[in-house]
This record gives sequence, C-alpha cells and structure tokens, in this order.
Amino acid sequence: MTVTITDLTGLPRTLLFTLRARAEEHGRSAPIISDPLAAEWHGRIPPTPMEVYTAVFQLGTAVRAHLYDQIARQFIHARPRSLIVELGAGLSTRFDRLNDYPTNDYQTIELDLPPAIAFRRQFDAETDRHTFLPASMTDPGWPAQLPAIPPEDILFIAEGVLFFLPPDEIARLFTLLRRHFPGATVAFDVLTNRFSPKARAAFAATDTPMQWFVENEADLAQYGLAVQESRVVTHLFPKRWAALGFDVARLKVGKGNVVATARIDR
Ligand SMILES: C[S@@+](CC[C@H](N)C(=O)[O-])C[C@H]1O[C@@H](n2cnc3c(N)ncnc32)[C@H](O)[C@@H]1O
Repeated sequence: MTVTITDLTGLPRTLLFTLRARAEEHGRSAPIISDPLAAEWHGRIPPTPMEVYTAVFQLGTAVRAHLYDQIARQFIHARPRSLIVELGAGLSTRFDRLNDYPTNDYQTIELDLPPAIAFRRQFDAETDRHTFLPASMTDPGWPAQLPAIPPEDILFIAEGVLFFLPPDEIARLFTLLRRHFPGATVAFDVLTNRFSPKARAAFAATDTPMQWFVENEADLAQYGLAVQESRVVTHLFPKRWAALGFDVARLKVGKGNVVATARIDR
C-alpha cells in the first residue's frame, strides 16, 4: 500500500503535526530535544496546512517527547533486553534518538494504523531490532504478534494519542494490555478536565476531536493501572513557556497535560 500525504486523513494525519514540532525543536539554538532524523523527514514532506498547529502545540510536543525519552532511557538502563512498543507511533524517531544508548540489546516495535505504517515505510526501513506493526491498538489480534518477552521487560509508550480515543476504546485498550501483559509498564499522556479549552476547541473543529479526559490521576486506577510517576508538561522548561506569554506561577498550580508512567496490574 502506498500512502501519499494527500491520502493521510483523520488520526493518521496527526503524525505530521508532532513530526513538525520535533523538527522545529531540533532547529532551535538550545533545543529541548535533538532530533536530526525528524528534521530530515519533515524536510521531505511538502508544505501542508495544519489547522491546529501553534507555538504552544510545538512546545508541548517537544517537552512531552523529552519526558518519554527520559522514561525510555531509565527503562532500558534497568532492563537492557527490553522491548519498547510505541502505540500510535506515527513517525516517531525515538529509536534513533536513543540509539546512542550504550546498551543496544533492546528492541522497538512501532505500532500504528495501517495507513500510518504504510506512510512510515516511505521514510524508514525495518531492521532486526526495529520493526513495524500495522494494527489498531484496540484490536485484540496484535498482542500475539509480539515476541515472547516477559511483560516486566516491556514498556508501552502511547505518546500524544490516547486523548483522541473515546473512553470505551480506552477501556478496551487497558483491558487488552492487562490480559496479555500484566506486570508491564505503560507510559502515556492524559488530559485532565482543566486542559486548555482553546486547544480543545481547535481540535473539536477538525475530524480529530479530543475525547478522553480524566478528573485526576486517581481516575486511572479503574483501568488496572498503578501510577508510579507523573510529570506535568507545563511545569517543565518555564522560560520557554514564559516566552510564549504564559504566567509561569499560574502554570505551576495547574495540571492539564500529564505524562504518567504506570505498572499494569497483574
Ligand atoms: C499525534 S500522532 C502521534 C504520533 C507519535 N506518537 C508522536 O508523538 O510523534 C497520533 C498517532 O496515533 C495513531 N493512532 C490513532 N488511533 C490509533 C489506534 N487506534 N491504534 C493505533 N494507532 C492509532 C495515529 O495514526 C497517529 O499516527
């Protein structure tokens, strides 16, 4: 299947936005993340309208990528033979960003909807340690396609995606993870009911509305998740938020976009 940029619609199209955010971050003088591959891939993509793309989206995406990189590095350090599965991988370049890591025994699987994986293949090729899995993350068929690795050695990363799914699909996803991978770790970002009404309205006006919100982290227990760590995206890199006109003291007391790391209950 060849998927061109004009064929990319709905949720798979959102992968262009986060790629652009990482590419632009890489081009800054003191970047939060360095991501030469994202810059290269983004440079190969023809200019395309991105209605929801703003400087705030760009910064939030870069901070989030930085947080997930930290989580992945810690995991690989503790479990050198680990497997990282990116759920809704899009054009994630994390495998390349972490490739300087001394322990090179871990593997990465990029899971995404078939059109997104077909698009990815135009930029990236599979290797023994880095493979692609075309599937919906809520499809009960994909867990059987993972290599036989103890769940404790698996880190699932769902970056910038779960809030696009309706709550019933979120429940189905976590039920699936719990059934097949008890004891695994999952890192994901979750929006609280206090998340920016402006950003919500911008996405609501497109075919990719944000659909999943929680009141607070305690809401995650219902999915069989034991939250181990959570970081608020707008609490990091205060100078960058201030440069966009935010009152940092006010940001500090708010909690709209949280990156959580949780253990999947046994
Ligand atoms: C905003 S992009 C984020 C991509 C990547 N994680 C990143 O941060 O650059 C959201 C991605 O989630 C994927 N996605 C949405 N729903 C999905 C589903 N049910 N199963 C797998 N992937 C999904 C989309 O195709 C898209 O590539």
